[in-house]
Amino acid sequence: MQEIASTVMERCELLGNVSEEAGALTRPYGSRAMREANKIVSGWMRGAGMTVSQDEIGNLIGCHQGTGDKTLVLGSHLDTVRDAGKYDGQMGVLVALACVQRLHDRGERLPFSIEIVAFADEEGLRFGTTFLGSSVYAGAFDEELLNLQDRDGVTLRETVRAFGGDPDALKQKGREDLLGYCEVHIEQGPVLEEHDLPVGIVTAINGQSRVGLVFDGKAGHAGTMPMEGRQDALCAAAEFVLEVERAARAEPEAVATVGEIAALPGAVNVIPGRTDLSLDVRHPDDEVRERLRDHLKTRAEEIAVSRGCDYEWRLRQETPAVSADPDLSALLAKAVEDSGMAVHRLPSGAGHDAAQVAELAPVAMLFVRCKGGISHNPAESVAQEDVGAAVEVMGRFLERVKEGLTLP
Ligand code: GLV
Ligand code: MN
Ligand code: MN
Repeated sequence: MQEIASTVMERCELLGNVSEEAGALTRPYGSRAMREANKIVSGWMRGAGMTVSQDEIGNLIGCHQGTGDKTLVLGSHLDTVRDAGKYDGQMGVLVALACVQRLHDRGERLPFSIEIVAFADEEGLRFGTTFLGSSVYAGAFDEELLNLQDRDGVTLRETVRAFGGDPDALKQKGREDLLGYCEVHIEQGPVLEEHDLPVGIVTAINGQSRVGLVFDGKAGHAGTMPMEGRQDALCAAAEFVLEVERAARAEPEAVATVGEIAALPGAVNVIPGRTDLSLDVRHPDDEVRERLRDHLKTRAEEIAVSRGCDYEWRLRQETPAVSADPDLSALLAKAVEDSGMAVHRLPSGAGHDAAQVAELAPVAMLFVRCKGGISHNPAESVAQEDVGAAVEVMGRFLERVKEGLTLP
C-alpha cells in the first residue's frame, strides 16, 4: 500500500508545480495551468484503463467501465486558491485514481462503473463564486453567473468558451445511473490530528454565503483634505471588517471572513475613493447564516451612511448546508472498520464539491488528517501513511458497495 501511496504523493508534488505563478501554486479555473493539469491527469486516467472526456465547463471525467449499468462517482477538484497547498482537492482525485489503478492492475471489473471527476472549479478563485464545476455536473448551474467578470474583465461566458466548452450548454440533465458520490479530501482542520486518527467520516458540509461589496466614497488629496468631512472608503471598509469579526465571534459556530480588499485608486497620497471587498459567511445552520448575513448587510449600509459613502452589496452565491447520506456513509464507516481503524465522524467547515453533487446522488466524504489543521496555505502537509490509509479504506469501500449494491 505504501508504494501506491508514494505514487499519490509524487503526483501531488508534480501537480503542485503546475501553476500560473512561479514559486507558488495558483491554479484558477480556465487557466493555462488548469489545462495542463487536466492533460496530465487525463494521461494518468488512461494509464489506469479509463476512457476520458471533458465536459462543457472543463470537468475532467474518467470512466472505468463496469459490468453493470450503474455508476459510482469518486472525485474532488483540480483548481486551487492563490498560493495553495498541494493536497486540497488534487489528493482526492489522485486517491480515487490509485483505487482504479489497483483494479486495472488486477484486471478486475466491478459490477458498476467508476467515474472519477476532477472538478474544474471548487475554490472560485477567479470569479469569486464556488462550485462552478460541480454545479454543472449536478445540473444545478446558475446561468446568471455567466456574466461574472474576473479581475481583467473577462466574463465567465468567455472563459468557458476559451476552455473548450459551450457556455449555453452548462445546464446539464440529471443522471439516472448514479449509485452515489464519495469524495476523499484533506480535513483542513485539526480534529483528526487531535484524535490521533488518519481518517474520518464527514457528517455534513456547512452552508456558505459569498458577497461582493463596494464602499464608494470620494478620492482626495491626502495632504490638504482635513480629517473632518472625508469620505474615505477604506475607513468604511475597515470598520466593516471589524464588524464582521465581532458579529461572527458573537455567534457560536459561525465563521465570517473578508479575504479580498482593494483600495482605489491606490496611491500613498490619495484618500481612497473606493474599496472592493469580498465577504464569506458560514454556519452549519442555514437560518443562522442568513441572519448573520442580513445583519452584516444592515451594518454595511449604516457604516456607509455614517461615513458619507454609497455602498453596493452583491450576493454572489449561496449554498445551503448539506448532510452526508447516512447509508453511503455507513458503508464508508464499515470500510474504515474493515481497515482496522476507529470510526470518527465530524462536520466540514470547508465547502466541498460533494455539497453540489448531493443534488444528484447520495454523497459521502472521507477526511484525511493533515498537519496542524493547516490548509489554504503552502504549508499544507499530509503523511504518506495517511494517504495509504485512505487508499485502503476506499478500496474496501468499493468492496462494500459491490457487496451491497442496494443503494438507492
Ligand atoms: C473551499 O476550500 C472553501 O471551503 O472555500
Ligand atoms: Mn477543496
Ligand atoms: Mn480549498
